[in-house]
Amino acid sequence: MSSPLVQKPRLHFPERPQFSGFMKPCRVETEVPNLEVYGEIPEDIDGTFYRVMPDPQFAPFIEDDPWFNGDGNISAFRLKNGQASFQQRFVRTEKFTREREVQRALLGKYRNKYTDAVEFKIRTTANTNIIHFNGRLLALKEDAPPYSMDSETLETHGLYTFDGQLPSLTFTAHPKFDPRTGEMICFGYEAKGDGTPDVCYYRIAPDGKFLETVWLTAPVVAMIHDFAVTENWIVFPIIPQVCDIERLKQGGEHWQWSPETPFYIGVLPRKGGKPTDVKWFRYQNSFPGHTANAYEDASGSLIVDLGLSDKNVFFWWPDAQGNAPEPSTIHSQLMRFTIDPRAAILDLTNAEVLHNGNSEFYRIDDRFATQPHKHCFFDLMDPSLGTDFPAIAPQLGGGYPLYNSLAHLDLETRKTEVYFPGRTHMVQEPVFIPRRGSSEEGDGYLLALVNNYSSMGSELHLLDTKDFTKAKAVILLPVRLRQGLHGNWVDSEDLKPRAA
Ligand SMILES: [Fe+2]
Repeated sequence: MSSPLVQKPRLHFPERPQFSGFMKPCRVETEVPNLEVYGEIPEDIDGTFYRVMPDPQFAPFIEDDPWFNGDGNISAFRLKNGQASFQQRFVRTEKFTREREVQRALLGKYRNKYTDAVEFKIRTTANTNIIHFNGRLLALKEDAPPYSMDSETLETHGLYTFDGQLPSLTFTAHPKFDPRTGEMICFGYEAKGDGTPDVCYYRIAPDGKFLETVWLTAPVVAMIHDFAVTENWIVFPIIPQVCDIERLKQGGEHWQWSPETPFYIGVLPRKGGKPTDVKWFRYQNSFPGHTANAYEDASGSLIVDLGLSDKNVFFWWPDAQGNAPEPSTIHSQLMRFTIDPRAAILDLTNAEVLHNGNSEFYRIDDRFATQPHKHCFFDLMDPSLGTDFPAIAPQLGGGYPLYNSLAHLDLETRKTEVYFPGRTHMVQEPVFIPRRGSSEEGDGYLLALVNNYSSMGSELHLLDTKDFTKAKAVILLPVRLRQGLHGNWVDSEDLKPRAA
C-alpha cells in the first residue's frame, strides 16, 4: 500500500451509508441570530444547549471510516426571551489544524496511530461530548485530554491539562458532576497509552484543583466509555471490545468484540481508595451502553441504572472471526444492577429490566446525580408508533442507531410517557432543563435535536415534562446537522467568566 501522502486526496466522501443521506457531513461554521420558532419557548428558559457531532472536515483516506472518526463540530443553541439563536464551530484540534493546512485528511483509522499519514502529538478529534466546567467549555473524546473552548465565541483555546495536573494521557468523555459538592469526577482508560490496562481515576474540585488520583489495573484492555458515581463509590462498566497493541501495529482495528469476555463492573471507593481496593464484578458477556445514574440504597448497596444489550452494539468492530450482529437485531434495554460493594462473591447473576423497549441516551434531572432519582428520560425506538420506514429509508444514511421517540419513565409508578415527533423523524440525545424556581425532580423541559427526513432538515423539539406527549416549541435550524453524540444544557447564570 502506498502512503496516503503520495496518493491524491479524495474529492468526495466514500459512497458508504455513514457518509450518505442525512449522514452527509455538514462541515458548516456559522452564526444565525433568529431561528424560526413554531409554538412557544417559555420565558423562564435562559441558557445554551451545547452539543457535538463527529463531522469530517475532509474525506478520509480510510474507505469504511466509522462515523465516530469525524472532527468535533460544536453547536450552541441559545434560548432566551422566547427566542433562539444558533452558532457552530469546529474544535481546532491538532488534527483539524494540520489537515486544514494541507487541505487533505492526514488521520488514519479510528484510534490507530500506526495508520496515520503523519505523526501527531495528539490525534484526538474531540468529538464525543461538550461540557462546561470552571468557566470553560471542554470538548471531549476518551482518547486524549480535553480541548478548552470559549463558551461565548466557541473559539478553541487549545489542549487543556488542568495546568499540568492531569495525570493520565486520556480523559473520559463522560465525567460526572456531584451537584452537592460541585466536584467533577473523571477517569481515563488506556491511561498510559494505547493497549495499556491502566485506568486512572481522579476527582477535581470546582476551582479546577485535583483532589485525588488512584491508578488501577483493569482485568482486560477494553473500552470503558461511560461510568457512574454515587456518594461514596465509583462504578466502571467495561465494554467487551478489546484492544491489542500488536493488532494496531499491523494496521488493524483498535477494537475487537470478545464474546468470551464477561461484562466487568469495577467498584472503587470514591474517596481515599487504594489501587488494591477495586473489585471487578462480573456479569455474563453483554454490551453496557450509557449510564443513567447510580446511588446507594438504605442497605449500602449500589443501584446502577444503564443500557445493556446482549449483542455487540458496535457491530462495525466484529469479533476475531469477523462475526457481528445484523444491526436491526440489536436491542438495548434500560437495566438496573444492585451491587453490594462489600460482597466477597463477585459474580452478578441478576439484573432488573426497568424498561424493555429498545432505548439509549438516558438522562436524568442532573440536580439528583449520585442520589436516588425517580425520573429518567431517554431515546426510544418503538416501530409500533407509526414511523414511515419505507419513505425515509433512502435518506437515513447509516452507521448509527435509530430512535423514533423520546420517553419519560417514572421509576415509582413504572409508567412511561412517549413523545413521537412524527412519522418521518428520528430523535437525538435529549437534555433536561429545570423549571426556574422549582426544586421538584423532573419538573422542567426536555430539549432534543430531531432529524426530519421529509424536509431533510434539523429541528429542536422542546417539551414540558408536565405535558410530555406534545411539543411546546419546534425550532427550525438553518442547516442539516448529522447525527451527533452528546450535549449539555448550561444555564446562563452558570456561564460566568473564568477566573484568571
Ligand atoms: Fe457516550
